[in-house]
Amino acid sequence: MSKVRVLFPGTFDPPTNGHSDIVDRCLNIFDCVVVAVLSNSAKTTLFTVKERLELLKLEYKQYGKKVEVLSFSGLLVDFAKRQKINIVVRGLRAISDFDYEAQMALMNKSLWPDVETLFLTAKEENSYVSSTLVKQVSSLGGSVRKLVSANVVKALQSKFHKRPI
Ligand code: PNS
Repeated sequence: MSKVRVLFPGTFDPPTNGHSDIVDRCLNIFDCVVVAVLSNSAKTTLFTVKERLELLKLEYKQYGKKVEVLSFSGLLVDFAKRQKINIVVRGLRAISDFDYEAQMALMNKSLWPDVETLFLTAKEENSYVSSTLVKQVSSLGGSVRKLVSANVVKALQSKFHKRPI
């Protein structure tokens, strides 16, 4: 039987424990996850695409071929078609995430009717974790050790020129 690959797209600026939880749980259901980093985001990012790819590759090194980390630009559905993947997975932390996520899922569906978006509910302990808050807390000297991996802590420290926190 052929392996089922799913796409987990995002900005990952930086990757958090919330993202890793979604990857782990995708692998409980599917064979492989392609973590897809958007490279031409209108958003200003703290980490370059290269840095985010490096952080994500380190994050999922132990998963071997089950997790691929790639970048994409342009429409997600075009990238998905090129990858021959029609399942997109997104995490939902709270009901407030749903509006934006449902809009994206419907837009993607209208662009490519074969695409299906699946939502996984974040674990309770990750329900308040976002890349945006991680950056804000870290930039102000707060500890984010419980929210991101040790490599991401290091990367945040070097961006914000902070002593270890
Ligand atoms: O982590 P994010 O910022 O919530 O991820 C958003 C992402 C990258 C999944 C979304 O912005 C995206 O898919 N962008 C690609 C452009 C696109 O396909 N737009 C049309 C569908 S909304």
